[in-house]
Amino acid sequence: MKRFLRLGVNIDHVATVRNARGIRHPDPVRAAVLAEKSGADGITAHLREDRRHIADDDIDRLMSEISVPLNFEMAATDEMLEIALRHKPHAACIVPEKREELTTEGGLDAVGGHNHLQHYVGELSKAGIRVSLFIDPEPAQLDAAVSLGAPVVELHTGRYCEVEPAEQDAELERVIVAAAHAETLGLECHAGHGLSFDTVGPVAAIPTIVELNIGHFLIGEAIFGGLESAIKRTRALMDKARAEVSGERSA
Ligand code: PXP
Repeated sequence: MKRFLRLGVNIDHVATVRNARGIRHPDPVRAAVLAEKSGADGITAHLREDRRHIADDDIDRLMSEISVPLNFEMAATDEMLEIALRHKPHAACIVPEKREELTTEGGLDAVGGHNHLQHYVGELSKAGIRVSLFIDPEPAQLDAAVSLGAPVVELHTGRYCEVEPAEQDAELERVIVAAAHAETLGLECHAGHGLSFDTVGPVAAIPTIVELNIGHFLIGEAIFGGLESAIKRTRALMDKARAEVSGERSA
């Protein structure tokens, strides 16, 4: 069965550039509206505890100014839970967060953090927010997501994107195996982190993945050719990879 693959555009790094000057330009919400017009199926924003990029006011404005679903990335803290419950975004993706990291450097430990996470998954779900857990592509993490009652997982593709070419196939295989395992467990499967024009195709070709979330590369690429063009090219690469795999399967 051919499944539609959604593209979620993460606009955090528009806010990173804005915050470098402490003024209002460039506006991440304007970028989100442009991303939507360019074919994004959803917008993702991570309100970090230290507010290094996205600010509280950006979340307020995203909720009222975009028409596609907002995927609110958040750490499992009481402060973020309160903000999520106030806004009730379509989805909340729980991510690990360390102050000293440059980006989200690994998946959530859903196994070791099970008891801590339970409260947050439960409260978000009760509010009708679709909860996903950002995890490394490991079977034990997927099993823990099920036992936590999370309906969605997002597989961390950072290692696949960052390793030397000789190791890339093995890392991709981990994502393929995890996505198949997610399917058997009844979990909706997303993927993201580090994806670019070069790496998006093989992940888009994994037929059980239904959403990719991409940020840093798209915002960086927008400097050279514009955000609309970067999104459209990504969308075309995703569609081509998905069409090829669907063709192979039905042949
Ligand atoms: N998915 C999640 C859960 C993330 O936290 C991030 C950004 O940190 C992304 C996807 C997008 O990653 P990138 O900016 O490398 O494309």
